[in-house]
Amino acid sequence: MQLVASLARLIAPMSILDLGCGLGYSTLWLASIVEPGSRVVGIDDDPDHISEATAIAVEFGYADRVEYRSGRVADVLETIEGPVDMIHDDAWFAARPAHLDAMVGLIRPGGLLTMVNWFLLVDAITGSPRNDWASFAGDDWAETTTEYANELASRSDLDVTWLENPPIAFAIRR
Ligand SMILES: C[S@@+](CC[C@H](N)C(=O)[O-])C[C@H]1O[C@@H](n2cnc3c(N)ncnc32)[C@H](O)[C@@H]1O
Repeated sequence: MQLVASLARLIAPMSILDLGCGLGYSTLWLASIVEPGSRVVGIDDDPDHISEATAIAVEFGYADRVEYRSGRVADVLETIEGPVDMIHDDAWFAARPAHLDAMVGLIRPGGLLTMVNWFLLVDAITGSPRNDWASFAGDDWAETTTEYANELASRSDLDVTWLENPPIAFAIRR
């Protein structure tokens, strides 16, 4: 998250969505680099995560700029008015997420999209999975991950770069 937050700082975002925010570790990293008056919205479909994340944001003094919403990302994005400066996506695993088009559509031109979980692509390419991904994501996890990467790379509205270590991808919205 330190690298993601440093990339975010380069575009001085005033509005950020954190998809799959969990307990808000990523959300608070992003909240730590924004200027006063900015908004970081964390989204997660686990209501317990959302209530705990809300309490943590208050405890660490970020309540003025952080807001959490509970629900499936694809549903919550429908309620959000764009454009936003940045989206961080941790709400996917081994397959194209249902929210892909809505997510990209909300980012302003020149805005930033960061995506984690690309260790799956590294493992698909090397053929040496560091975990039993099939038990989380099905036997075809390598194919679905590679297909998602290829789809992202071929989108005309994104300019995507992958890093191997740490295994994240970042994209600029064209
Ligand atoms: C790896 S964890 C979150 C980590 C978090 N970003 C952090 O930095 O601590 C992924 C989270 O995404 C949530 N999630 C996964 N798919 C989702 C979806 N489609 N809609 C909403 N939440 C989702 C899960 O409930 C889980 O809390």
